[in-house]
Amino acid sequence: MKPILTMLLCAGMALAQVALRDAAAQRGVMVGAAAVSGNLGQSSYATALGREFSVVEPENDMKWAALHPNPPGSANEYNFAPGDALVSFAQSNNQKVRGHNLLWHSYNPAWLKNGNYTAAQLNQILRDHINSVVTHYKGRVYAWDVVNEALGDSPAGPRDSIWYNQPGIGETGFGFIAQAFQWAHQADPQALLFYNDYSVEDVNLAKSTAMYNMLKTLLAQGVPIHGVGLQLHLTASPNYISPAGLDANIARLAALGLQVHFTELDVRIPVDSGGAASAGDLKTQAQRYRDIAAVCLKHPACSLIQTWGFTDKYSWIPGAFPGFGAALLFDAAYQPKPSHAALVDLFGTAPPVLAAANFLNSASYQGGAVSPGEIVTLFGANFGPSTLSGPTAGAQVSFDGAPAPILYSAVNQTALIVPFGVAGRANATVTYSYRGVPSNSVTVPVTATSPGLFSADSSGTGPGAILNQDNSLNSAANPAPSGTVVQLFGTGSGALSGGVTDGQIISVPLPGLMASVTATIGGMPAKVNYAGPAPSLIAGVLQVNLEVPMGLAAGPQPVLLKVGGVSTQDRLTVAIK
Ligand code: XIL
Repeated sequence: MKPILTMLLCAGMALAQVALRDAAAQRGVMVGAAAVSGNLGQSSYATALGREFSVVEPENDMKWAALHPNPPGSANEYNFAPGDALVSFAQSNNQKVRGHNLLWHSYNPAWLKNGNYTAAQLNQILRDHINSVVTHYKGRVYAWDVVNEALGDSPAGPRDSIWYNQPGIGETGFGFIAQAFQWAHQADPQALLFYNDYSVEDVNLAKSTAMYNMLKTLLAQGVPIHGVGLQLHLTASPNYISPAGLDANIARLAALGLQVHFTELDVRIPVDSGGAASAGDLKTQAQRYRDIAAVCLKHPACSLIQTWGFTDKYSWIPGAFPGFGAALLFDAAYQPKPSHAALVDLFGTAPPVLAAANFLNSASYQGGAVSPGEIVTLFGANFGPSTLSGPTAGAQVSFDGAPAPILYSAVNQTALIVPFGVAGRANATVTYSYRGVPSNSVTVPVTATSPGLFSADSSGTGPGAILNQDNSLNSAANPAPSGTVVQLFGTGSGALSGGVTDGQIISVPLPGLMASVTATIGGMPAKVNYAGPAPSLIAGVLQVNLEVPMGLAAGPQPVLLKVGGVSTQDRLTVAIK
């Protein structure tokens, strides 16, 4: 009886797997898949496609050779049936359709390639095609790849094609691209129009810059381009497309006002002759999917993560990259792979939440502007694991793009050190991420100094974290006599002279403070013997050695520093003998 019950429960769990489209909706993105209308009759194919994705795109059914098999004037000039089947499948599954594509150097019918058309003829043929196809799918295809892969790899520039090469459609340079977008826009003014390409994903590629410049020029000419499709055919090992490079590239494309879609994501891995991949490669692949998808989540401009197919049963990879395969989210038996689980996990991980008001000096817990090297405690949500356990794997924070050291992160609290590089700025934009899931960004004001002193019980008030001259902890039971030296510790004393790197452990020769320091104990001026970074501690910790003035009453006396003219918190005391 019992084993049977376990079996039934396990079966129930397998059925209750989370659909990718629902998980993605929580993060405000759509997930798509390229699909083949000829496969829709297979129920496992159709079931998974309908259940998991919010967007479908015909892998080939809307390409020229498929859609426009015969020349103008022929009886069966167009063949809309396969594309239409996919569109109606999408509609019945509450999915959007991306159209792919209206102009490409490849997948063109023989009559077109070999027609030796004049510029005027080819112009008319392209115009009719775009007009007929976009009009046919008007209101049913929400976004079109109008132009696919118009750039070559090396040198990064216009690629040879019947459209670009003379006589072409009678345009020079990228004029054929401008023309194609204009015709598509006229046919369906509501459709989002995309330029789609590969090897344009990372900011550090000549081709991505060529694309950026091309799009910028076309936009300046008023060409109706609304977005960029980044294909993202990847390998599992970090190849020439890095998450950081992708991030920066999306940022510059978004700054042009363009939307970004990940259009053809797949992560190919080595497979044996039976198509099987190793468990290790499947795991690495899953992480790669997660890292890449996380970049999309960082950008409001990025609204679609689409894979090129969805089941390893049907994928272009084994044909195009012999020895590779298993590139998608479902195996050949339609079972979700680790890559699927990684995306569900990513989408289900709530992003960290930052608020500018929650950046507090770690010693005083006072808010306000931050200063270079200040140790800051930040309260919020989703910063790290549920229990606090020292330096946190997977947590990252940046100020104006520069990484800052993180001392610890727990779910609702983290401590970090403001980079010294913010010195002189009026404010800094901060972004935090945990396990690749980014927070909102906030802009925090920056000031030269924002000092606080550490207290003995870490509350920010009461007895200070102060050492007497003999390095014992100052306390009511162990007060400091007049004339002796006490050592105070704080943070927020601002920039240091002498080129300190963030996170550096301070050693001789000691860097100096840029700000001046004065002190009072019990309201009386106290001589400052040393004020500077604390030796052997991390850069950002301030140490101040004060001489206890004569004539103070015994007991707790308030101690105040002024660093660069700014006071430390009141209600911090030193015990006087
Ligand atoms: C590929 C399809 O997956 C194959 O089935 C077909 O034989 C050739 O085209 N970039 C693109 C896609 O923009 O259209 C390509 O699709 C893959 C590369």
